[in-house]
Amino acid sequence: MRYKLGSLSTVLLVTLICFTLLYYFTFTGKEYRLKSQEDEYLLESLKFNRINALKIAKKNREALIKSSNSLNYTDFFEKVKVEAHCEHKMRIGGDGDGGKSVCNPKMVKDDCKLLSLGLHDQIEYDLHIYDVTGRKCKLIGADIDPQNATTRALYEKMNGKLFVGQIPIPLSIPSILRKSGASEVELLKIDIEGGEFIGLEPLIRDFYVCQILIEIHGFPTIHLALLKIMSKYGFRIFNVEPNPQCYFCCEYSLINEFCMTQYGVFPLAIVIPQM
Ligand SMILES: *[C@@H]1O[C@H](CO)[C@@H](O)[C@H](O)[C@H]1NC(C)=O
Ligand SMILES: *[C@@H]1O[C@H](CO)[C@@H](O)[C@H](O)[C@H]1NC(C)=O
Repeated sequence: MRYKLGSLSTVLLVTLICFTLLYYFTFTGKEYRLKSQEDEYLLESLKFNRINALKIAKKNREALIKSSNSLNYTDFFEKVKVEAHCEHKMRIGGDGDGGKSVCNPKMVKDDCKLLSLGLHDQIEYDLHIYDVTGRKCKLIGADIDPQNATTRALYEKMNGKLFVGQIPIPLSIPSILRKSGASEVELLKIDIEGGEFIGLEPLIRDFYVCQILIEIHGFPTIHLALLKIMSKYGFRIFNVEPNPQCYFCCEYSLINEFCMTQYGVFPLAIVIPQM
């Protein structure tokens, strides 16, 4: 009798395990199929977008060059088309002026360096990006002026490093990296009101940078000149946002072609003309 009871409970136990496993695989299997089907639809529509973008790329490039020679900023910003699709864009550091559009920030590498140039004691972006990237990245900030006690304390708390000086002279971006022990940059935020014209190229020429979030000020020809420099080193625009408080300013987000797979970005056509 005892043996019979024992074998009965064994049978029951085995049955229970079988059902659990069956349920588990059916359920997760369904979930997986659903997700990959959505991904497939997205991929199909992106392929379609890319074919169309390639068809009109030449026309778009010509229209952009033509508009860069006028002083109609609205028209120029409209003609800067995105060159890559980021499905998971995230607004970092508030909705208003100073907020940045970053692509899929959770996908940063483990050994990541976040470079934030131009602070003006406003570090909403810095606090937010440090948090959403999992507090594992090294934060490096720089500004022409010393930051106040609040900013310094907040940077300290994030284990961040602060530099003071005018970029690129006397404070060059490569020297900031060397002094921080960094050899590459995961996310570069740059808002240094003019310094980017000489400062940016040596950085992206000599170092590996994944995403650039840049505010450009000035005539449309100036915007185009800087976009061309970044394009030359393989950076593709995935977000364009004119600044509503400054009619000649525009915020651009770009991603290095080498980082597209890491961030799940799909390439469209290149719109920025090469030199
Ligand atoms: C500037 O360009 C926009 C968009 O193309 C157009 O609607 C507007 O009329 C232009 N403004 C002037 C002053 O030409
Ligand atoms: C530092 O600057 C920020 C932004 O202007 C301000 O909110 C904060 O109160 C300042 N802190 C000090 C100690 O002056």
